[in-house]
Amino acid sequence: METIDKVFKNNEKWIEGKLQNDPKFFSDLVKGQKPEILYIGCSDSRVAAEEVMGLGPGDVFVHRNIANMVISIDLNAMSVINYAVDHLKVQHVIVCGHYSCGGVKAAMQSADLGILNPWLRNIRDVYRIHKTELNAIEDEDQKYDRLVELNVQEQCINLIKTAAIQRAHRDRNLKVHGWVFDVKTGKLIDLKIDFKGILNSIMEIYHLE
Ligand code: CO
Repeated sequence: METIDKVFKNNEKWIEGKLQNDPKFFSDLVKGQKPEILYIGCSDSRVAAEEVMGLGPGDVFVHRNIANMVISIDLNAMSVINYAVDHLKVQHVIVCGHYSCGGVKAAMQSADLGILNPWLRNIRDVYRIHKTELNAIEDEDQKYDRLVELNVQEQCINLIKTAAIQRAHRDRNLKVHGWVFDVKTGKLIDLKIDFKGILNSIMEIYHLE
């Protein structure tokens, strides 16, 4: 119970702090949300989405799952993306992976993880797509880091393939970003993915704009 008691005590202190800073904090918050960012990240407890970006309540629409996946038949993720893009009209969509990701690590190994198997298989597919590059990396840690980055890249591409993102990119220049959070240093790294270059080569397959 200690942990849970602490949470409620922390909450009291948090409310106090917010009101001291701005007495209208909660009365403003209740009016509604207008976040400019949709953040799709890993569920890992070490990657605190808003905190690492220095943002707070009302700033970011958040979706998290194991290994920050964007899968076209995941009704949960697709609903979040649709709502954020079509209704909240976010201007930026970020897929943020992180080094030391347990989900990505598990996908590199052959252990049977039950219900997680079909989920992690999507990461193995990323490995398969980039097999030549990954197999050329001898150092296991470097290979692992690179798979984390390539997974972000592939999930961004999955994102770009969705109808909502296609429309918003065409109509109001919505931007997709691929980032990695480095747990060792706390740094957010923009992978500066060349979407134009990547998409040019697959456009005819997916009929993308
Ligand atoms: Co993770």
